[in-house]
Amino acid sequence: LRIAHVSVEMAPIAKVGGMGDVVTALARAVQEEGHEVEVVLPKYDIINYDEVRELALVKDFFFANVQTKVWKGQVEGVPTTFLEPTSGAFWVGCIYGRNDDATRFGFFCGAALEYLKHHSDAMPDIVHTHDWATAPVAFGDLGGATKSVFTIHNLNYGQDLIGRAMGAAAACTTVSPTYATEVSGHPAIAPHMDKFYGIRNGIDQDIWDPTTDRFLPRNYGTADSAEGKAAAKAELRARMGLSGVEAPLVAVVTRLTHQKGIHLIKHAAWRTLERGAQFVLLGSAPDPRVQGEFNALAGEMGRAYPDRARCWFSYDEPLSHLIYAGADILLVPSIFEPCGLTQMIAMRYGTIPVVRKTGGLNDTVFDVDDDVARATANGMVTNGYNFEGTDPAGIDYALNRALTAWFSDREGWGQLVHRVMEQDWSWSEPALDYIELYYKALKRI
Ligand code: ADP
Ligand code: GLC
Repeated sequence: LRIAHVSVEMAPIAKVGGMGDVVTALARAVQEEGHEVEVVLPKYDIINYDEVRELALVKDFFFANVQTKVWKGQVEGVPTTFLEPTSGAFWVGCIYGRNDDATRFGFFCGAALEYLKHHSDAMPDIVHTHDWATAPVAFGDLGGATKSVFTIHNLNYGQDLIGRAMGAAAACTTVSPTYATEVSGHPAIAPHMDKFYGIRNGIDQDIWDPTTDRFLPRNYGTADSAEGKAAAKAELRARMGLSGVEAPLVAVVTRLTHQKGIHLIKHAAWRTLERGAQFVLLGSAPDPRVQGEFNALAGEMGRAYPDRARCWFSYDEPLSHLIYAGADILLVPSIFEPCGLTQMIAMRYGTIPVVRKTGGLNDTVFDVDDDVARATANGMVTNGYNFEGTDPAGIDYALNRALTAWFSDREGWGQLVHRVMEQDWSWSEPALDYIELYYKALKRI
């Protein structure tokens, strides 16, 4: 098959959240199955062009009276086409966050359609679009035999556009089975349930690999995870100014937005410290009000528990690797979570997820106390029967059990670390589900 993703994010060169990771890793996994895959992306000024191989200007065309340059290159081995309108719509120092986002991305979608139909080597079989920003491609005129597949990564933004894309696409997905069920009653989705599928995301096993990760002081696999994690923890503590006491380290790596459970993160930070553990947060806050709240929290925690808590406010990819490896517990208390990648990344580094039971967290984290089979048990989950709400009690329930397990049964903890490291959260299976869906969209199966 020939598949073109049209997206406004692509890791590692243009990433805000997990959608960028998914586009790159899914494209590569499908390519590895023998299909021809391309990603079409705006040519932002903020791209780190060192990460783009063989970048070359190949042609230009006019769309809506704007000269638009077409560049080709490779990102993580994926052929990538960059569209650059000379109006400067993407020379604005950011991906999102401006009042004219809808206009800029609307232009990009029109230009992408024009490129695919009239200026690419051949029209793809499948055009795969992602979230509201590229929804106009899904409900645009693709022409010919090309079918469109539309993926919802987050239903919270651009619901009108999403509804229209759902209506027009041959098949639609969201990024986990549980989130698919949770949003099934939404007016943008309910009419289209016959072509709506929940396929859980995977993680890129090459980028997230403790045996080769260049951001760790010492690489490790399952066999030497204790030594590898101890080295990462020591380096993380040194960098964060934390003491080297015998205590578990609880970490949060997130965008600081409502979705991620702001009040639960704050509550869990205090609970962690009260229980004698250490706390590290790596967070990027797009909203200055939320940033202010976390500045205050960081100050209060620092005064009450010097050497035991540190908040780091930036988007810092290398530091995130060190945290995934150096932490014992990764906390993900999201209010809603379409899939979530951080819990899966954490597991690959032998860090135990403590999560709220929602969306993709429910499809990837199985409570050690609930899972009778034990082979899949891999973390601590807020109790689904009593604490489905967003109250702190649910997080206490999960976090307290994790901390108690660490303090009281180090051997059992070590076994849990081994088990989570061996679980497979790669794209191998989900990529096959997407390929099957592409064929279904083309009505070839
Ligand atoms: P979302 O897409 O909703 O933000 P995901 O869990 O799907 O959530 O993906 C988040 C991705 O962004 C992960 O790769 C995570 O490591 C990364 N990330 C989030 N916040 C930060 C940060 N402050 N610094 C570095 N990486 C971050
Ligand atoms: C969104 C969701 C997140 C998901 C990611 C990639 O940003 O918030 O849960 O993992 O997209 O699909």
